[in-house]
Amino acid sequence: MKRLAFHEALGALNVGDLHPGGQAATEFLLDELAKQDPRVVLEVGAGIGNTTARMLKRGWQVVPIEPSDTLRHQLESRLGISAHAGGFEDFDSADGAYDVVLGESVFYGMDLKRAFAKVHRILRPGGLLATLDTVWTAAAIPDVAATIHDDSKRIFGIPMASREALTWSDWRRILAEAGFLAVVEKQIPPGSLKADKGARWVKLRAALGQPLALLQNLNHRRQFGRLHVPAGWTETWMAVWRRAE
Ligand SMILES: C[S@@+](CC[C@H](N)C(=O)[O-])C[C@H]1O[C@@H](n2cnc3c(N)ncnc32)[C@H](O)[C@@H]1O
Repeated sequence: MKRLAFHEALGALNVGDLHPGGQAATEFLLDELAKQDPRVVLEVGAGIGNTTARMLKRGWQVVPIEPSDTLRHQLESRLGISAHAGGFEDFDSADGAYDVVLGESVFYGMDLKRAFAKVHRILRPGGLLATLDTVWTAAAIPDVAATIHDDSKRIFGIPMASREALTWSDWRRILAEAGFLAVVEKQIPPGSLKADKGARWVKLRAALGQPLALLQNLNHRRQFGRLHVPAGWTETWMAVWRRAE
């Protein structure tokens, strides 16, 4: 069986909401976006599509992008819609095509300046960007942060935070320079990336059909101890930003 990254093994086990704050955080963002009554949403890094499904339920037209074959196939078979393969960086879009661009725990892995310049281009003026990402705090030592990034990427197949020790004030500055105004921002308390009880049952049931994914997930969990992130070095923020007219 193909070696799966941490998020892919969980996806194969039908576990989504792979971001701090889980479903409650997503609903906070969606309620904020709903105030503008969006019609067309680009979802970057949709995973197995939990947030996609919630947006479809709200009557929004959603275009999901998901580069992982494992997760994209899972999304497509669960929701009966197709998702774009490849990364956001290569995604082809007309200018001003979207009312909303949403990415949960995905933009942190990109070159933020380039990514947000592209988001700005493909959003209509006044359109909204929703983000939810773990960032470094001012306490983080840049060299050590880079090592933690590299180690987490090697061990889990996905980095736990950006390689550069960017803080939330760096994000605010980069987004302001890209032409965004903050609409709302909220910090997510630490330790909230735990599968809820419902997800655990789903996972247990899925494990019966996906024993190899379960084994890989157990192996990832066994390795958590190898990654030491000093207390107070990271924090997680969700926010909605408006593209200036
Ligand atoms: C931490 S997971 C979060 C998945 C989903 N948003 C959620 O909250 O459950 C990050 C997702 O972003 C996807 N991803 C990683 N790099 C990406 C990129 N450059 N463009 C689009 N998606 C990307 C990954 O495959 C993965 O599904």
